[in-house]
Amino acid sequence: MDNKEVVSLREAHALQLARPALAQLQPFEPDLADLPIEKMERELGQERVVKLSFNENPYGPSPRAIEAMQRELKHLNLYQDSKGDDLRRTITADLEIEPDQIILTNGADELILLTSLAFLEPDDEVIIPSPTFGQYRASTLAMGAKPLPVPLANFRVDIESILEAVSSRTKIVFLCNPNNPTGTIITQSELDFLIQKLPENILLVIDEAYIDFATYPDCAFGLNTLPQRENILLIRTFSKIHGLAAARVGFGISHTPLINILERIRPPFNVSSIGQAGALASWQDKVYINKMRELNTSNREYLYTLLEAADMSYVPSQANFVLADVKQDAVAVCRKLAESGIIVRSGAGFGLPQHLRITIGRKEDLARLGEVLQDC
Ligand SMILES: Cc1ncc(COP(=O)(O)O)c(C=O)c1O
Repeated sequence: MDNKEVVSLREAHALQLARPALAQLQPFEPDLADLPIEKMERELGQERVVKLSFNENPYGPSPRAIEAMQRELKHLNLYQDSKGDDLRRTITADLEIEPDQIILTNGADELILLTSLAFLEPDDEVIIPSPTFGQYRASTLAMGAKPLPVPLANFRVDIESILEAVSSRTKIVFLCNPNNPTGTIITQSELDFLIQKLPENILLVIDEAYIDFATYPDCAFGLNTLPQRENILLIRTFSKIHGLAAARVGFGISHTPLINILERIRPPFNVSSIGQAGALASWQDKVYINKMRELNTSNREYLYTLLEAADMSYVPSQANFVLADVKQDAVAVCRKLAESGIIVRSGAGFGLPQHLRITIGRKEDLARLGEVLQDC
């Protein structure tokens, strides 16, 4: 028996010990587009790589957030406030809700997992527009529940088809607004219609990771909908417009009883003191966040012009990324871009083999991208 076979035999034994649902999942195996920039640079033998594959803020966090996080360093021997009261009070005061209507989590990812852990049982059905962010499906499978993909229509979440997919087994509907990877929005009237029709015993989860980038006035805003429905959970994150992805801070908004369910399983010290301090300072730095939104909007317009110049089409986006139709094998285009030190996300993983998902980078980096796309 060679070493590989021994490893797989030991894995098979470990899997027998695990809950059966886990047999359907694989560990996260980063490929080139998932690596940190330094590793990309090493792998490609390039001095400077432009990473446009992770929907990160290319300008970094607010200087005020950096200062606040630095101030926390000397207290790292002490456990932090487990509920993050300062951050929760500040956010909820601004949003005009009660402090016990939000829960802080280790990024939005942890909240998605906690939600599945709290509400899903084997054989429950979970409606998930497709393609969308992968963690809704992964956390559903982890609980032994059944993900029910509902195809997008013209790259948009299809509310009618979602309602048609509802059955007596439906436990959760996940929506992502704006949707990753398409950047398209659900309008307020579409959301109002869904809420009117969706049985009240189904949990509606709206992931608003990218909502701060949206500028269309008719974009649905989950907070408007909160008073209309008890079983609703909104997901937000500091990883995107706030530029704090590695600080790992997300939060959920709902009514107090639902938040209290999630609090029962939240690990008490899930958000670090550094994360809490950075998030608080960033939340208060409205000028910086507004500037990030404006830069994103103007750089997105610029990316559109580059795509048009390269004879490629795109889905108009309300997020910090654009889904581009490259009209050829996207993996080959990714490879060509990587040779020039530019990493974007192939649509293949989303079932879109001729599309790229391109994060809105700095203007100068987009210009580099545009030059390579002209030759594709
Ligand atoms: C739609 C969506 N939700 C959640 C996340 C995860 O965010 P976080 O970094 O807060 O875990 C992402 C990350 O890309 C995302 O695209």
